[in-house]
Amino acid sequence: MNDLDSLVDAARAEFAQAPTPAELENAKARYLGKAGRVTDLMKTLAALAPDLRKARGAEINAAKGAIEAALQARRDALAAAELEAQLRAEALDVTLPGRGRATGGLHPVSRTIERIEAIFASMGFDVAEGPEIETDWMSFTALNNPENHPARSMQDTFYVDLKDAEGRWLNLRPHTSPMQVRYARAHAARHADAVAGGARMPEIRVIAPGRTYRVDSDATHSPMFHQCEGLWIGENVSFKDLKVVFIAFVREFFETDDFDVRFRPSFFPFTEPSAEIDIAFRSGPLAGRWLEVAGSGQVHPAVVRNFGLDPETHIGFAFGMGPDRLAMLRYGIDDLRLMFEGDLRFLAQFR
Ligand code: PHE
Repeated sequence: MNDLDSLVDAARAEFAQAPTPAELENAKARYLGKAGRVTDLMKTLAALAPDLRKARGAEINAAKGAIEAALQARRDALAAAELEAQLRAEALDVTLPGRGRATGGLHPVSRTIERIEAIFASMGFDVAEGPEIETDWMSFTALNNPENHPARSMQDTFYVDLKDAEGRWLNLRPHTSPMQVRYARAHAARHADAVAGGARMPEIRVIAPGRTYRVDSDATHSPMFHQCEGLWIGENVSFKDLKVVFIAFVREFFETDDFDVRFRPSFFPFTEPSAEIDIAFRSGPLAGRWLEVAGSGQVHPAVVRNFGLDPETHIGFAFGMGPDRLAMLRYGIDDLRLMFEGDLRFLAQFR
């Protein structure tokens, strides 16, 4: 190996060991710089005879070319390594799952209430809402349930030690039945002038869903629960109409004809006669079990009077059912409390 070959080898080795571009440039200076070893060799040419100078000059130039090529190769390698490191540091894993936004959904009870509203609306029923903090008069007295009467305990509620501006005791309504009175009175007032002028009072056909409250808490009772009241009052509305409407509702709601219905005699102060409505599916997981789905009855004349209507000319029926129960039956839920705990593992199933 001649001196030029070992010079090239030494340069390659130094370049290869330079860990950074700055150190590589220092190494370059040692070979190719003004005081570098290649430059020094060039200076020796001057002392040579012209023919030797030419040959030696070509050899030095070849060696210089090899050193420059090695330098460029190392520069490229360092730049590539730097780029590689930078890319690795800024790496984005595009296969990671995104930070998605969860879609919400309607609560099963809200869904059920919407379903009830749609079915009754198709039968000509209006939908009304009313206050959850109610007067004692609306919750009980107007519904033929006088103060201190034991029948009040049927709908035992949370009594509030508070009176409204007119001095009436307030409570959290234990049922949606006060909406019968509120809606019917507003209806009678709205049509009072027309009726005084000889027109006939239009029929009342309404449902009123909403939150209700009682002192109760177990797998099938919650201190806050939902009810949906129904009221149909006209000049000739009978128990038969109640049966037709309610059975049509059950059929639509559960999307089946495969059930039996029974009107079981019962008592409510505001209806006479009164009945609990039970249904029993003929097939499926609940087959053969009587399930109570509503209280109902022909509206008591005393209540019709409190509507601001004449019980001699106005008659009809009311019912009250539990959307929570209906949702449980429809979706196969066995514990009412699940509905109100807000656990997403439960609720997400209804999205
Ligand atoms: N309000 C009654 C209850 O909560 C149900 C009902 C409504 C019964 C309308 C008859 C008529 O138990």
